[in-house]
Amino acid sequence: MSTLSTDFATDFAGSVVAWQRGHGRHDLPWQNTQDPYRVWLSEIMLQQTQVATVRGYYARFIERFPDVLSLAGAPLDEVLGLWSGLGYYSRARNLHRCAQSIVEQYGGVFPKSAQLLETLPGIGRSTAAAVAALCFGEQVAIMDANAKRVLARVLGFDADLARAGNVQTLWRMAADLLPQGAYAAQAMPVYTQGMMDLGAMVCLPKNPDCSSCPVRSLCSAAASGDPQRYPMRTRVRKRSSQSLWLLWMQSARGAVLLTQRPTPGVWAGLHCFPLFDSEAALMRALPTHWHGRLQRQPAFKHVLTHKDLHLHPLHVTLPDADDALYREEGRWLAAHEWPQLGLPAPVRKLLQQGASLQSCG
Ligand code: ADE
Repeated sequence: MSTLSTDFATDFAGSVVAWQRGHGRHDLPWQNTQDPYRVWLSEIMLQQTQVATVRGYYARFIERFPDVLSLAGAPLDEVLGLWSGLGYYSRARNLHRCAQSIVEQYGGVFPKSAQLLETLPGIGRSTAAAVAALCFGEQVAIMDANAKRVLARVLGFDADLARAGNVQTLWRMAADLLPQGAYAAQAMPVYTQGMMDLGAMVCLPKNPDCSSCPVRSLCSAAASGDPQRYPMRTRVRKRSSQSLWLLWMQSARGAVLLTQRPTPGVWAGLHCFPLFDSEAALMRALPTHWHGRLQRQPAFKHVLTHKDLHLHPLHVTLPDADDALYREEGRWLAAHEWPQLGLPAPVRKLLQQGASLQSCG
């Protein structure tokens, strides 16, 4: 791949910066601050989640954990509770470990280079670059899905981005396109946000709005007439599926039995109904005289990143409020305790429906 001309790079970076100032986003809750704690938190939340969803979670998180010290000192369960519903819970576990590392290794002060940030739990190369560029003006390139798309299109980069070697090449080209010179440190936060905003607002995966694009005149993909062809990615992720039976046991006083899921595995660390691979296995876990009390709930599909889960809940109300039962398997938790727990989204939904289920008898 040929190196990019300096003129092209200057033109590109200048156009992105000017466009961000005039047309980019300026009022997101994690903007207008150079506090790395806030920027880091938002970047982790935004990794697999839309801005509209992140807003509420971010606000609640900042209110409860305003700084890295408060997050590091909190029980993991509370962090998972606040994360509940955002999905990809390894992000929350890493977030907590990362806060603790920053306190233990750096006295509670975020390191100021992408290179050091990248050594921390849950911080990948692009997230490290985003924090370092947005907060400290470091000249370092991000490479999230938006930046990949913008760069692949502008450069007409037609190598398969499912191959790590091709992504490395794109990183090198991205570095060549960064703002240079005396004002680079000042421009880097705006440029970095500009790349994110271009990808989110103009250079969309489908139907990119090339007529509004500040770098249209530089863009190979636009010139080709079929910008959507980029980025190239051949590998099709294999999805698997799994069926699970959920034993939703309720004591007479309304508590439910929840067990903490093992790590690694589906919903690691979250509190869940006991899970079984078959209805027969679930039945074996219950005394036969309760089988007649089981009520099958409608089965439904829940989609994880690489897996479709087919969930079959079975509900049983126990005749006596005997919370001593199944002590080995989990804890009986009353309704007022559920909101603070990290619960898988489908379990939370079932519990919310529980009230109506009860009232139907
Ligand atoms: N996605 C990832 N980082 C973002 C940011 N800082 N603003 C908006 N969307 C983003």
